[in-house]
Amino acid sequence: MKYILTIACTILSVTASLAQRNAVEPGQPWPDQNGNHIQAHGGGIIKINKTYYWYGEERRQGLDPNLRYVSCYSSKDLMNWEFQKDVVQMADPENLGAGWILERPKVYYQAKTKKYVMYFHLDDRQYKYARVGIAVSDSATGNFKFVKSFRPLGHQSRDIGQFVDDDGSAYLIFEDRELGFHIVKLADDLMSVEKEMSLVKESLEGGAIVHYKGLYYAIGSALTGWDPNPNKYATATSLEGPWTDFKDIAPPETNTYQSQSTMMLKVIGTKATTVIFMADQWKPKSQWDSRYLWMPLEIGDGKLWLPKPQPWSLNIKTGAFKLAEK
Ligand code: DGJ
Repeated sequence: MKYILTIACTILSVTASLAQRNAVEPGQPWPDQNGNHIQAHGGGIIKINKTYYWYGEERRQGLDPNLRYVSCYSSKDLMNWEFQKDVVQMADPENLGAGWILERPKVYYQAKTKKYVMYFHLDDRQYKYARVGIAVSDSATGNFKFVKSFRPLGHQSRDIGQFVDDDGSAYLIFEDRELGFHIVKLADDLMSVEKEMSLVKESLEGGAIVHYKGLYYAIGSALTGWDPNPNKYATATSLEGPWTDFKDIAPPETNTYQSQSTMMLKVIGTKATTVIFMADQWKPKSQWDSRYLWMPLEIGDGKLWLPKPQPWSLNIKTGAFKLAEK
């Protein structure tokens, strides 16, 4: 009897973990195909053919404290994610010492060279080195090999964000404590910075941009470490600016519903275009349990607003989303 019960329980738990998810639940644990909470913090997403790849900081428990890890997950519908593997398992590449930092990895695809180029924030434990690192792979699922690090156009760079425009041009957003928030164009081969598009003289990190109906919307958070704060947005008709003043994206007292921006993802379907706000709800003392706040934004005509988080679902074909409660 005991034996039969054990088998039944095992079957039930396997089935539950493999069950198709039909909603995104902001702030809740987000299980992958194996039932493990997704580890892709401070992440970014690219779409190759019909597959989305989500890269982020791998922070599960039991990792080698000398190495830094970047995970890769794949999905066809943005709700169900399959862990592929840790595409980076890197030892300290530049003698930065104990506690060295690899944060906010972002992967771009270069269609001509067929290379996947990862940018990440590389630093020492005091956050003084302030550089971007680059690692390259021949496939979306790695392994990525470290190539070099540098300060973009000679500037300090901590948090980075990724933006690929509708024409395929690739941009890097980075935070420079001396000057502000930079938006730079990457060279064609993605291996260096070509030129500065904008320097926004604001102290903003967690930068993200989306191009929606002829306007660029930029988002950033204030510099409050792991603590959430009211994230803000501005708009411009060109990446070269001028940018409007920055305004709240949510009621400021909610501190962006306890989250920090990492990316905005535009999903273009047959009937609708949905822009998803992707953010981290950090738990600095138990980073493996940090959560994700993904919500479709109310966006258009120069306005951007993050609705109160609640479960929602997406039809990846039509591009339309549905809120659980209306
Ligand atoms: C805020 C940044 O957005 C995070 O990526 C991380 O660098 C923390 N600061 C560290 O305090």
